[in-house]
Amino acid sequence: MNPLATHLSSLIKEFEEDNICKVNKDPLRLNYHIMAPVGWINDPNGLCEFKGKYHVFYQYSPSEPQGGLKYWAHCTTADFINWTQEEIALYPDSIYDCHGVYSGSALIDEDRMYLYYTGNVKHDGDYDYINSGREQNTLVISSEDGYNFSSKQIILRNSDYPENMSNHVRDPKVWREGDSYYMVLGARDKNSEGEVLLYNSKNKINWQYLNSIKTKEKLGYMWECPDIIKFEDKTIIMLSPQGLEAEGILYNNVYQTGYMFIEGDIKSEYSLSEFVEIDRGFDFYAPQSFKDSKGRRIMIGWMGLPDIPYKNPTTENGWQHALTMPRELKVINGKVHQVPLVEFEKLRSSVYQFDVNNDEAIQCNTRSFEAIIEFSEKIEHLKISLRKDVHLSYSEGTFTMSLGESGFGRDSRSVNIDSLQSVRIFSDESCLEVFLNNGEEVFTTRVYDDKEDTILTVNQCNAKATGKVYSLNKFSIK
Ligand code: FRU
Repeated sequence: MNPLATHLSSLIKEFEEDNICKVNKDPLRLNYHIMAPVGWINDPNGLCEFKGKYHVFYQYSPSEPQGGLKYWAHCTTADFINWTQEEIALYPDSIYDCHGVYSGSALIDEDRMYLYYTGNVKHDGDYDYINSGREQNTLVISSEDGYNFSSKQIILRNSDYPENMSNHVRDPKVWREGDSYYMVLGARDKNSEGEVLLYNSKNKINWQYLNSIKTKEKLGYMWECPDIIKFEDKTIIMLSPQGLEAEGILYNNVYQTGYMFIEGDIKSEYSLSEFVEIDRGFDFYAPQSFKDSKGRRIMIGWMGLPDIPYKNPTTENGWQHALTMPRELKVINGKVHQVPLVEFEKLRSSVYQFDVNNDEAIQCNTRSFEAIIEFSEKIEHLKISLRKDVHLSYSEGTFTMSLGESGFGRDSRSVNIDSLQSVRIFSDESCLEVFLNNGEEVFTTRVYDDKEDTILTVNQCNAKATGKVYSLNKFSIK
């Protein structure tokens, strides 16, 4: 570690020690989601499986619960249930990244872990445009064991990006194909159009620009956190565009995340299908995916958004935001589905089974539960109420999540879904992830209520259905 990193590390440890009690006393702290020990968390970074462990890095701002200077925090697990909080992996300690070690990804290659990331440097002047007021450097570090890292190497700087780029080029995602390496970077061009830059390398260090990936019609002014995801016979690009206008029930959050199918070859000729939002709730952004040794494509998102239009009550207790549950991605009938990892079944404790048709008020006795409701015949309408004042309803082919006071000013989000077969709800102390039809649609949201708000009711349901509620244990993080 260089002397600056050593100094920052001791300051952060001291700050964490002084604040962790206050943060952990907050009843809104989550039981089975990754949170920063104290302070602020945003994007998941460097997701990978390496030498028997899953590694999750994330954007961390320890002393600023409203976000500030970014570090890469690090945690590991072998089973997604028992976690270890590791030492901070990356500090903003060089001239190439002194205003934040921004998002990036992991490449596992020839028995080493490589972490590619953006080094943010701000200068006087215009952060966005010409006359460079901002450097967005691309850097790499590597590691033999996943815990100790080599020194930083800069591989791309502003002058290496295409001439028509603004100062916003970031979030490298790197992968290998045969004996070539590829990298995508999110970008905003000088006309304020979002796009992705594709680079190629033979040695992981020297990179050549190959192509731009963009839509025929403008899709926002900036594309953050791109990810190219290959399934057996389909490829998608996942990205977080900024600057989309709301259209009816679509694009209602401040920024969006979604995907497009890619036809053809991104290196030369390709076409993109329509942009589809991957999550329909209030709090989902900047996801990243990786493939594990079981062949699963696992995605984790940031359960939060930049520039949210409300004050998250947890900030007063010294922390803000979390990561979503890890979800397995699958393409089914031309749609990307997200299924919570099967490992989470290990958190289940007591179960209560019920018959949906009797309008029973089910006392979950905890805010940390999983509820599964399955319909055995065609359903026309449905209403589920839970927590303090969250309502999930289905009618005329539209599923809606409405938040009352516990939404802190966020009202409702909807999606059209033809045939509703199941609703699976993961509830944690201050969040909900609702999966429809085995992950065909998902709503992720934070919700702020009291420990006593644990009643679930299912009513206005015209069909035969069965329900189960499991209490969920806390996962361990040491
Ligand atoms: C997305 C993002 C990234 C950037 C990072 C900085 O939330 O803005 O584009 O690298 O956060 O924390």
